[in-house]
Amino acid sequence: MALRNSLIRALAAISIIYSFSTPVLAEGEKQQVLEPGLDGTLNHIKYEAASTPPSEATISRAIERDYYKQKYMNTITDEGVDSLDQSSKRYWLLWCMYGFERHGIRYQNEIKKWAVRYAGISEKHRKIVKSSSDYEKIYDTVHDLWGINGQIAKDVVTHALAYYSIPRDELDRFILVQEYNENWDNQERVNEAIQHVVRDWATEGQHERATAMKTLTDMLTTHFPSRSVSQPARVLVPGAGLGRLAHEIAELGGFSVTANEWSAYMRLAYRYVTSLRKKESETNHPFLDWWSYQPSRTEMTRPVLFPDSVVPSSGPQEVVMVEGDWTVEFANDTAVYDAVVTFFFMDTATNMLDYMDTLSRVLKPGGMWINLGPLLYHDAAVEFSLEDWMDVAEKGYGFEFVDVPEEWGPLTLKSKKARNRDIGYMYHKESLRRNIYNAQLFAAVKKETDLDE
Ligand SMILES: C[S@@+](CC[C@H](N)C(=O)[O-])C[C@H]1O[C@@H](n2cnc3c(N)ncnc32)[C@H](O)[C@@H]1O
Ligand SMILES: *[C@@H]1O[C@H](CO)[C@@H](O)[C@H](O)[C@H]1NC(C)=O
Repeated sequence: MALRNSLIRALAAISIIYSFSTPVLAEGEKQQVLEPGLDGTLNHIKYEAASTPPSEATISRAIERDYYKQKYMNTITDEGVDSLDQSSKRYWLLWCMYGFERHGIRYQNEIKKWAVRYAGISEKHRKIVKSSSDYEKIYDTVHDLWGINGQIAKDVVTHALAYYSIPRDELDRFILVQEYNENWDNQERVNEAIQHVVRDWATEGQHERATAMKTLTDMLTTHFPSRSVSQPARVLVPGAGLGRLAHEIAELGGFSVTANEWSAYMRLAYRYVTSLRKKESETNHPFLDWWSYQPSRTEMTRPVLFPDSVVPSSGPQEVVMVEGDWTVEFANDTAVYDAVVTFFFMDTATNMLDYMDTLSRVLKPGGMWINLGPLLYHDAAVEFSLEDWMDVAEKGYGFEFVDVPEEWGPLTLKSKKARNRDIGYMYHKESLRRNIYNAQLFAAVKKETDLDE
């Protein structure tokens, strides 16, 4: 009975969604229009119901996934949106694909430039190098390995074209136009997304993830002891990057997890990695791009396998990825989430108060905000110190801070419930450089009465 009701509710929800938005036909749907003469072939098809009915939790995840995908697809439709209009979302999606498509070749050209610099050294110096090391081989080795990296980046594109139903020749044409106009792609951004694959989806990234993610998932487990698959706690992870934390939370069971990410570079990489169905099926060489801080050639050319974990594509532990700026995408959501986890995210705001508005609105009264990250601003309108920020959260937004695990050491500030640890961000373990932040961990509960009202 409960299942029937939930199916009815599910169908009602779908029809509401569709009545609000013009549906875009996905490739699969178009193919279902059979030629009239082919009808007879249907007699041979055996329809078999699944042996177990899908649970309510599975259905609700699928509805949310389809809803957000449809919503995004409506913003990038072919009809009415000129993919060469820079203000369109379709343009930016193609722009990012352009970057991935050219990833291999751009870096291979870069290596040629490095080789030219080396070629300028004197005959005497070259003899010394040749007789004492095989340094010169590095140019060819790295060139070849970038071919492999370039292929992975192209796989990201192939997956994205299918996922977003964009024709290959539209991308090819787009790239031709950009290159003709000398609008060069942004390899820094592509590289960043690919480096995040290591942080999130390779064993290699464990040294950055382990402490942070274990602490965050433990805090959620402790805070929501009575959650269950049928009564899950709803968690939002904005600025999720490649999404590992969101998936770790979903893995705990009894959480319904929504991730969100604005950057199309990150989203394309995320969609690709989470589509892979076999553990460690792919190989990348992520440490070739910067020859500074390399302890050895072996380290620099070391392969990294991914994904170290395969994620479910349906069921209650499916993570729904919402594409776009979280202050916009969740603008109409009030008191929806039981918890919001901000991980290396809040300092990306151009105005932290916009983020605080969104945060306090989407949280249910009594909901929990957990934050872990540094304070690295990028020309923001407001650049609070930790102390300022916590004051504003408390007095301006009605958050009540609760203590965080004592293993995190003494309080960062005597009067505030924040603790800290050194947490790495995107560096390889053997590198001669360590990129580490003194990340701040705090948690706060949104008071039952909203100060705004
Ligand atoms: C420093 S990265 C951290 C990513 C991830 N949380 C991690 O720890 O690996 C911050 C992320 O927030 C995303 N971001 C920035 N502004 C955003 C916004 N307004 N809405 C959603 N995501 C945003 C960026 O694209 C970037 O991927
Ligand atoms: C929020 O609601 C307004 C008014 O109905 C609508 O125009 C807007 O698109 C909605 N935003 C989102 C992200 O759904």
